[in-house]
Amino acid sequence: MINPVIWQEDRVLLIDQTKLPNAYEVVEIRSSEDMAVAIKTMMVRGAPAIGVAAAYGMYLGAREITTENREEFIAQLVRVAQMLEATRPTAVNLFWATRRMLRTARTTIEPVAEIKTALLSTAEKIYQQDLQTCQAIGANGLAVLPQTRTKLRLHTHCNAGSLATAGYGTALGVIRSAWKADRLERVYADETRPRLQGAKLTAWECAQEGIPVTVITDNMAAHCMQQGMIDAVIVGADRIAANGDTANKIGTYSLALVAKAHNIPFFVAAPLSTIDFDLSTGSEIPIEQRDKAEIYRIGDTIVTPTSGVEFYNPAFDVTPAQLITKIITEHGAFPPGELGKLL
Ligand code: MRU
Repeated sequence: MINPVIWQEDRVLLIDQTKLPNAYEVVEIRSSEDMAVAIKTMMVRGAPAIGVAAAYGMYLGAREITTENREEFIAQLVRVAQMLEATRPTAVNLFWATRRMLRTARTTIEPVAEIKTALLSTAEKIYQQDLQTCQAIGANGLAVLPQTRTKLRLHTHCNAGSLATAGYGTALGVIRSAWKADRLERVYADETRPRLQGAKLTAWECAQEGIPVTVITDNMAAHCMQQGMIDAVIVGADRIAANGDTANKIGTYSLALVAKAHNIPFFVAAPLSTIDFDLSTGSEIPIEQRDKAEIYRIGDTIVTPTSGVEFYNPAFDVTPAQLITKIITEHGAFPPGELGKLL
């Protein structure tokens, strides 16, 4: 299995996702500051993987704190959390993980060395739980896929696979489970401009495991659906509001609209840690704005005039709940309006 974030002895190993598929490079992260940079620059990306990386980042930060005074230690750990949280605002798993780590620190008694041990153990738990969660999402998703054909043509956007989680994946985890159960004919992967996570990462993961995959550009989705080439769409999520509105990679909303127009079921696969019950609707989800160079550059080539032209680069959009058939979690698949049952 591909594991993008691994704790090894005294450091974190990350697959550098900015280099794939041209190079497979593993980087060693030894400080909380380096972890913050790795998250911000998208060396590690995908909501659950960001959560796991942030948890280890918190432990690395705890290790850097020298005081033996519990109150002072916790005050400094809060500052580590703030530094990690300032990297990417949309994926709620990041905040979920830092809060869980802070809770461990606050509920463990002295000495400080004991708190540090407890923090490593919580980070390991977050990693292990994500692996199990993704397997459960895969099984629950398989159970709700349409029965219209034995072998399905599934369309996905961005990368919600092993690389975006501790391993296995959410949306791509369901697709993996369908492949293992002999229920998959082919995956259609949107290339996912501007960062090309579909073309670079989803295609790479599928190719590694022999899962049949066709990469299409984002503007081909409607045509493929009109041609009867797609049986269901399944995507991941970065943050789901209590009413089921779902933030995911930019382009997800238009894919959901097109699926609705063609009467094709649209599934979101995500762990409970991606649901933000503090937000009642998707309009409250903060949307990350990224560097304009992601739009005017493809690789090293500038493809657009950069003077006299403006750029707008939101990394995520919000798909309204009414366009979503079911949200698949580790606890089952729910119509968006029934998410409250998970509370
Ligand atoms: O900007 P990214 O690559 O971190 O965005 C990733 C996505 O939008 C994924 O679909 C989402 O995080 C779910 S990953 C299981």
